[in-house]
Amino acid sequence: MALHALLTRLLLLSAAASAAAAAGDDNCRLSGCDALASYLIARDQNLTYIASLFGFSDYRALKTYNPGVSNMDYIQAGQSVNISFRCGCQTLAKSPFSSYLAGSFPYKVASGEIYSSIAGHFNGLTTTDWLDKANSYPTNNIPDTGTVNVTVNCSCGNPGISKEYGLFLTYPLNGQTLASVAANYSFNSREQLDLLKKYNPGMDTNTSGLVFIPVRDANGSYHPLTSPGQPRSLCKLIMLPY
Ligand SMILES: *[C@@H]1O[C@H](CO)[C@@H](O)[C@H](O)[C@H]1NC(C)=O
Ligand SMILES: *[C@@H]1O[C@H](CO)[C@@H](O)[C@H](O)[C@H]1NC(C)=O
Ligand SMILES: *[C@@H]1O[C@H](CO)[C@@H](O)[C@H](O)[C@H]1NC(C)=O
Ligand SMILES: *[C@@H]1O[C@H](CO)[C@@H](O)[C@H](O)[C@H]1NC(C)=O
Ligand SMILES: *[C@@H]1O[C@H](CO)[C@@H](O)[C@H](O)[C@H]1NC(C)=O
Ligand SMILES: *[C@@H]1O[C@H](CO)[C@@H](O)[C@H](O)[C@H]1NC(C)=O
Ligand SMILES: *[C@@H]1O[C@H](CO)[C@@H](O)[C@H](O)[C@H]1NC(C)=O
Repeated sequence: MALHALLTRLLLLSAAASAAAAAGDDNCRLSGCDALASYLIARDQNLTYIASLFGFSDYRALKTYNPGVSNMDYIQAGQSVNISFRCGCQTLAKSPFSSYLAGSFPYKVASGEIYSSIAGHFNGLTTTDWLDKANSYPTNNIPDTGTVNVTVNCSCGNPGISKEYGLFLTYPLNGQTLASVAANYSFNSREQLDLLKKYNPGMDTNTSGLVFIPVRDANGSYHPLTSPGQPRSLCKLIMLPY
């Protein structure tokens, strides 16, 4: 590699690393984890379509994490389904270029679509602003044949809060509060709610936005954290766009 190119790369590396550090991405770890998202089904949406948004060619693959759905072929608007996905370190394509934990789902745009119409398909799991920051296309000019990376925030837990929980559900509040969602997932006591507040700082009274709830997997395990995770700085370097 030419010296000039090498120097440019080093400069980019340090610029991105300090931008990421400024954003305080405490949980961005090299290895990532499995995660779940709760998708609230809207009118006129079927499971084939919803599964395809998240890269599943067959909606029946969603059955494992939806034991509460008795019939996958008959599901109604207003119900929620769990979507399983890989939660990993992503880097914003626009300023401040920080890294964060999310699932990334390629979405082939239809002619004339804009970030807000795309976010609209995801029923609160992402926002217009977040899609704009996560993608390199200009805010008001997505190419007709483009593919947008739809990123859905997620959590892999935090050994500084508890080592017992390693599987998290990304839940869009859609009018509920952290306390009401927590209660629905068996976090009823005051101590348990305090714990959930630590995973969701600043969300005590909010009724929109995302919260992260520790959940059991299909085998009934909370996936305890086994190792404290990889050095945080590594993922920033590896995920850098050249
Ligand atoms: C599912 O929804 C998609 C997108 O709205 C639609 O094109 C498709 O025909 C629907 N499939 C069924 C079986 O209703
Ligand atoms: C979604 O997953 C959570 C955690 O495993 C579980 O409590 C809930 O029942 C699941 N939802 C459905 C519809 O099965
Ligand atoms: C995703 O997480 C980042 C960093 O915490 C936050 O700034 C952003 O608003 C979140 N996006 C959504 C859609 O909640
Ligand atoms: C989507 O993500 C891929 C892989 O990280 C990246 O190469 C591509 O540039 C991203 N697309 C946009 C529109 O930002
Ligand atoms: C409570 O959780 C169950 C299982 O995930 C879900 O089906 C139901 O919609 C939730 N209820 C509320 C009010 O969030
Ligand atoms: C919660 O709501 C408050 C008041 O609207 C807002 O200032 C704050 O940014 C929200 N918190 C998060 C984490 O989105
Ligand atoms: C449940 O346990 C079985 C047997 O140990 C394993 O093969 C499977 O991957 C586990 N499922 C989940 C969701 O962890």
